[in-house]
Amino acid sequence: MGSSPIVVSFLILSFLVTLSSFAGETEARAFFVFGDSLVDNGNNNYLATTARADAYPYGIDYPTRRPTGRFSNGLNIPDIISEQIGSEPTLPYLSPELTGEKLLVGANFASAGIGILNDTGIQFLNIIRIYKQLEYFQQYQARLSALIGAEGAQELVNQALVLITLGGNDFVNNYYLVPFSARSRQFALPDYVVFLISEYRKVLERLYELGARRVLVTGTGPLGCVPAELAMRSRNGECAVELQRAAALFNPQLVNLINGLNSEIGSDIFVAANALQMNMDFVSNPQAYGFVTSKIACCGQGPYNGIGLCTVASNLCPNRDLYAFWDPFHPSEKANRIIVQQIFTGSNKYMNPMNLSTIMALDSRT
Ligand SMILES: *[C@@H]1O[C@H](CO)[C@@H](O)[C@H](O)[C@H]1NC(C)=O
Ligand SMILES: *[C@@H]1O[C@H](CO)[C@@H](O)[C@H](O)[C@H]1NC(C)=O
Repeated sequence: MGSSPIVVSFLILSFLVTLSSFAGETEARAFFVFGDSLVDNGNNNYLATTARADAYPYGIDYPTRRPTGRFSNGLNIPDIISEQIGSEPTLPYLSPELTGEKLLVGANFASAGIGILNDTGIQFLNIIRIYKQLEYFQQYQARLSALIGAEGAQELVNQALVLITLGGNDFVNNYYLVPFSARSRQFALPDYVVFLISEYRKVLERLYELGARRVLVTGTGPLGCVPAELAMRSRNGECAVELQRAAALFNPQLVNLINGLNSEIGSDIFVAANALQMNMDFVSNPQAYGFVTSKIACCGQGPYNGIGLCTVASNLCPNRDLYAFWDPFHPSEKANRIIVQQIFTGSNKYMNPMNLSTIMALDSRT
């Protein structure tokens, strides 16, 4: 008695359904993002703040060709990491779409304008400061528990990948925001950096307490080399000295902090990404990376297109892939791809104590 074609195709169908639900269980790990405009996927769209990227030409190269709140012409660093780990992009925590199954993908808590310190970015009014982001992470976990149970939620968080990008604004939008800023009167630069690192320690410790077990921590980029600083502080197109000094002081101390925390915990929880070096590669030799310039922003006005904001009235370059900087402060998608490539496969010059490919390989075995 031969099986009818209908029975056979039913069997094949149920086999495929079983396969795909199995694939569902072994889906990409969850991804959580904390920090500032370099990693904000659109939280500020939901806030009464002046730090926003919700108008043309932001998003001009995003798949939808529409602004999303990302400070990029297209994808930003977390989007490209999501893409590489086989995940959907993280939704902003404040998005009404972040419910049900979407919670399993993770969430993005970042908010443009914030820093390590509570007094960083006050001129932007309502932004989600880092302690509030951590509070939202706790709230997220309660919502996740309601969906999949406390044990499942704990497991999802422990196995997740976490990215935190902080620090640049503590210089640009605090210490150096105005001449004789309160913080610059309170601290000499080296002491300010020590203070920032001691405050950052508390943030990272809290993240660990909240269940994070693999945390990529990016240092600051070359703050003095961005088109905004070339326009405002540079004599002849060289990177602004004071901001470069700040980055040079901050980044090695961040690596020390991370090494210290890991050895206290007895595990490689935190991983430092040397964003300064990653950016300096294409800033000092743009042509080698396919850029026509690393000094002039694609979108902006004034010298280096570095003055003011990128708006519909700004100069706009026709091919964003030829520019290292999209706007006066933020890299283009093309530059973000170079950075993420180094996060995944970079040597110890870029990633400490290991790169993300190594992490993914280690974690898939345990
Ligand atoms: C920043 O604010 C949080 C609470 O919102 C507080 O716990 C923390 O101590 C503050 N940090 C500083 C340096 O004042
Ligand atoms: C980084 O990743 C690559 C694999 O892409 C690996 O060959 C290399 O050894 C890693 N480097 C370090 C320092 O872990």
